[in-house]
Amino acid sequence: MQDFPYYPVLDFGPAMKGMVIGGIGVFHVFVAQFAIGGGWLLCLLQWRAWKRGDALARRFLDSYFRVLVLISFVVGALTGVGMWLTSIQVSARTIGMMVDEFHWIWATEWLFFLAEVIAGYTFYRYAGRLTDGTRFLLLLVYSLAAWGSLFWINGILSWQLTPGGEPGLGSVWGGFFNPSFWPSLVYRSFVSLTLGGLAALAVVQAMKGITREERSHLARTCSLVLVPMTLMPLVGIWYVSVLPEDSRAWITGGSALMTMAFGIAVAASSLLGLYVVFGVLWKKLHVSFATATLLLGLAFGASGAGELVREGVRKPYTIRDLLYSNSLTQDDVEHFREHGSVQGDPWPLRDPAPTASLQTGQRVFRLQCSVCHTLNGANGVDHLVETWRPDQMRMNLASLQHTKSFMPPFAGTATELEALVQFLLWRRRGEPGEWTDTTTHEDLDKNHRWLVEATTAPQSHSDRSTPKHGGGR
Ligand code: HEC
Repeated sequence: MQDFPYYPVLDFGPAMKGMVIGGIGVFHVFVAQFAIGGGWLLCLLQWRAWKRGDALARRFLDSYFRVLVLISFVVGALTGVGMWLTSIQVSARTIGMMVDEFHWIWATEWLFFLAEVIAGYTFYRYAGRLTDGTRFLLLLVYSLAAWGSLFWINGILSWQLTPGGEPGLGSVWGGFFNPSFWPSLVYRSFVSLTLGGLAALAVVQAMKGITREERSHLARTCSLVLVPMTLMPLVGIWYVSVLPEDSRAWITGGSALMTMAFGIAVAASSLLGLYVVFGVLWKKLHVSFATATLLLGLAFGASGAGELVREGVRKPYTIRDLLYSNSLTQDDVEHFREHGSVQGDPWPLRDPAPTASLQTGQRVFRLQCSVCHTLNGANGVDHLVETWRPDQMRMNLASLQHTKSFMPPFAGTATELEALVQFLLWRRRGEPGEWTDTTTHEDLDKNHRWLVEATTAPQSHSDRSTPKHGGGR
């Protein structure tokens, strides 16, 4: 390990970086998956219009598609680009590794996206002049391409969570068809259909000039794509069963937030599925516009919670076993423990502290902590260490991965650790213009001892079965 890539660091103010990606990501996934499910629903409707002469389906098709095209093309494409742009700035190395491993697959995904745009736009522009067969064909190409781009990107994203096999970059296909590939693809496909169906239900209610019978006939047709939703609990179990044990532990009590988010995702999607099957399809309940949008909101919440869980259970990694969330590898951690982590960092500090040692602390924070913490905003460290005595700080930060097992191990020397502690103490005192370092040899010895005791192994590896253990050291 010699040439560590120091990337420039961006500061998003009070929001921590993970939150910025998460926010855009959840929204983008929602819109993009809706575009896929919507596509399949359009195929179904076009088929009915074509083969059964269903005039209502045709009418709906032509009204509904405007909304779909608008949302999926414009918002989906913009947020998609926005997300990768943000990800590259927050975690350039993660994206770099993904591109290294999967560049051809990624290129393939782009071709599918291109096909989706062309087919979708052609339909949008020329649907009025085409025969039913051609319309169906175009929609089929659109849907296959949209779902295909999900297929490809799903392999890359699920690889982050379960790279599969021995740690290390290796076979592309082994990585692509990793253990969570299939459950995640099925899960996302069902979510897509559900979002498409629910949005369609809302549009059906908003349509003007049709009778009540026509409305409920259309609503039932659109509800068909919601049926797979009822299998969600099973898919959830399948998904959870392929997770590594320590990731699974997060959602079974290991982390209150993760457990709650997981519970909400499962409960909300099961309720949705039950309502659709018993209420809409069986009891033929009338789904008002308000109900349909409410359900869509519920689905948005559930899918957001699902994404949060997917991102969350990966901690402390962005690519499991390969890259920690702060873009360090295990080799980096070990190397930096010996040689220090920030002396090669070429980027200037934004508001440099008054002494060189404090600036070292500032840099350590920027390199190792700032991806998940701010200083005094979201998940602010000032606040988290507010009541800690200096020795408590030394010990807890030296054994970061045991303090909270979703943090990576501390990756620096005893001196760097001290610099970080001093930096946080300096901030606690209100950032005075002058600062005399009172660190003693004993302090450094303690740091050293606690670092050795903590080892460089992540908590999940040193104690896989009980990740909570050691949390209160
Ligand atoms: C992978 C993301 C991540 C990284 C990297 C990370 N942390 Fe944390 N840290 C967290 C989370 C999440 C919590 C839990 C916050 C809570 O309990 O409210 C936490 C908790 C803490 C706490 C409170 C612990 C307690 O027991 O109350 C401190 C102090 C802390 N982190 C400091 C740091 C420092 C210093 C660094 C860098 C050397 C760092 N963290 C790196 C995610 C991270």
